[in-house]
Parts: sequence; structure tokens; C-alpha cells
Amino acid sequence: MAGSRCGAYWLFKLIYIAFLLCFIAVFIFWLIFRPKEVEFHVTDATLTQFYFNTTNNTLYYNLSANITLRNPNKRVGINYNSIEAIAKYQNKLFSNVGLTPFYQGHKNTSILRPVFVGQKDMSLRARDRSKMDEEKSAGVFGIDIKLSVQISINYGKFKTFKFEPTMIYCPLKVPLSDNGTVAEGFKTTQCDDVNFFSYPDDTD
Ligand SMILES: *[C@@H]1O[C@H](CO)[C@@H](O)[C@H](O)[C@H]1NC(C)=O
Ligand SMILES: *[C@@H]1O[C@H](CO)[C@@H](O)[C@H](O)[C@H]1NC(C)=O
Ligand SMILES: *[C@@H]1O[C@H](CO)[C@@H](O)[C@H](O)[C@H]1NC(C)=O
Ligand SMILES: *[C@@H]1O[C@H](CO)[C@@H](O)[C@H](O)[C@H]1NC(C)=O
Ligand SMILES: *[C@@H]1O[C@H](CO)[C@@H](O)[C@H](O)[C@H]1NC(C)=O
Ligand SMILES: *[C@@H]1O[C@H](CO)[C@@H](O)[C@H](O)[C@H]1NC(C)=O
Repeated sequence: MAGSRCGAYWLFKLIYIAFLLCFIAVFIFWLIFRPKEVEFHVTDATLTQFYFNTTNNTLYYNLSANITLRNPNKRVGINYNSIEAIAKYQNKLFSNVGLTPFYQGHKNTSILRPVFVGQKDMSLRARDRSKMDEEKSAGVFGIDIKLSVQISINYGKFKTFKFEPTMIYCPLKVPLSDNGTVAEGFKTTQCDDVNFFSYPDDTD
């Protein structure tokens, strides 16, 4: 009785240790081969029109941005199967543009140049409007660009399945340069929340 109990105990202990070793091996494998995240930076943004007409609640905008994407991986190429750039002001979407899909080789940097131009009917509450007036007198607007990106990756010749679309968030402070003058002072901004290969704590 006691003997078989003891045997069962050691068996469990062995299984437990085997499990643990297996887990550690998988973890180390994952650490070594997991691709590094792509780095997104907004290096330039030009805002030549940003005006809200309160008579008919229309926002007139003209914003362009340069966004650099750096793939730091040695063995991994990235297919950007779809990219949509979304512009938001005071958390309200005012424009979205689809960008051309492309392939990015290893250790390479690509530049995206979304242009948002047009007009949008939107409602801004009194509080949002007074915030906008403040920003207008300061000459700098807080505009968010978000990128909805869907990728797959190439390990050499092997191509993976398509990943879930990811949202990349770039909160910007963009100086307005109307009147033909070029506003200086846009600071290169790193985008948050790039989670192609790791799981985000929260999306969006
Ligand atoms: C942004 O892109 C434009 C071309 O579209 C280029 O003339 C300008 O120099 C770029 N700005 C930066 C900071 O790279
Ligand atoms: C605002 O919109 C109204 C209605 O369309 C128009 O009459 C007015 O000229 C616009 N104001 C400006 C400054 O564009
Ligand atoms: C506001 O006025 C512009 C022209 O001034 C017009 O194109 C636009 O449709 C108007 N928007 C609304 C909501 O009436
Ligand atoms: C938008 O701004 C760019 C400069 O960044 C200018 O070349 C272009 O003509 C403007 N477009 C409109 C419709 O105002
Ligand atoms: C990296 O990108 C440049 C253009 O930006 C391209 O000419 C070059 O072939 C690319 N390299 C690889 C390894 O894909
Ligand atoms: C707009 O530009 C004109 C000529 O370039 C200049 O005389 C004027 O002071 C400028 N206005 C503002 C508000 O910068």
C-alpha cells in the first residue's frame, strides 16, 4: 500500500518536472525566434488647413504625414497586406485613407505618406470647441493618426498565415501652417502599441 503510494508520488513528481522542462524549452525557443516588433515613427506632419465652420458644423482639413516603419529583424520579412490610415480629432474620426500594400525586407525601413484632405460634417460639443479654440490660438493641434495594419510574415521562403489586424496609435501635436508659411517644430513622435508578435494588454 505505502510502496505504491510512494511510487505514484514519484511518478507525479517526474511528470511535473518533465512538464516544467518542456515549458522552459518552449519559452526559450519562443524568446530566440520571436520576431522583434516593427518600430513606427511619425517623422513629419504638415497641417495646412484645420478649420471648423460652426455655421454648418463642417471641419475643413489638409494634413499629410511621413511615417517610417523599421523592420529590425534579420530573418523576417513582412507583408503589409492592408494598411488603413485613420485621422481623429478629439477622438472623432474625420478622415481615413487606404494605403498601398507592400512587402518589407529584413532590416529595412519603409516610409508611408498618408494625405488627409477634404471636409467632414461632424458635431463638436461646446467643450470640444473651446479646446479647439485654445489649440488654434496656440497654433498646434492634437491630432491622432491610427494605422489599422494587417500583416503576414516571411521566414525565408516560408510564409505564415495572416495575423489579426492591429491598431497602431500615433498621438501627434501638429503645428498649423496656414498663410503659406511652413510651420517648424513638429517633433518626431514614436507610435504606441505595436503588437504584431506579442499580445497587447488592451487593443485600441
Ligand atoms: C516627408 O516627405 C516629403 C515628400 O513627400 C519630403 O519632401 C520631406 O522631406 C519628408 N520629411 C521628412 C522629415 O522626412
Ligand atoms: C461657413 O459655412 C456657411 C454655410 O455653408 C457659409 O455661408 C460660410 O461662408 C462659411 N464660413 C466660412 C468662414 O467659410
Ligand atoms: C457646409 O458648407 C459647405 C460649403 O460652404 C458645403 O460644401 C457643405 O456641404 C456644408 N455642410 C453642411 C452640413 O451643410
Ligand atoms: C494641401 O496642402 C498641401 C501642402 O501640404 C498643398 O500642396 C495642397 O495644395 C493642399 N490641398 C488643398 C486641397 O488645399
Ligand atoms: C530595402 O528597401 C530599399 C528601398 O527602400 C530597397 O531598395 C532594398 O532593396 C530593400 N532591401 C531589402 C533587403 O528588401
Ligand atoms: C500672412 O502672409 C503675409 C504675406 O506673406 C504676411 O504679410 C502676413 O503677416 C501673414 N499673416 C500671418 C497671420 O502670419
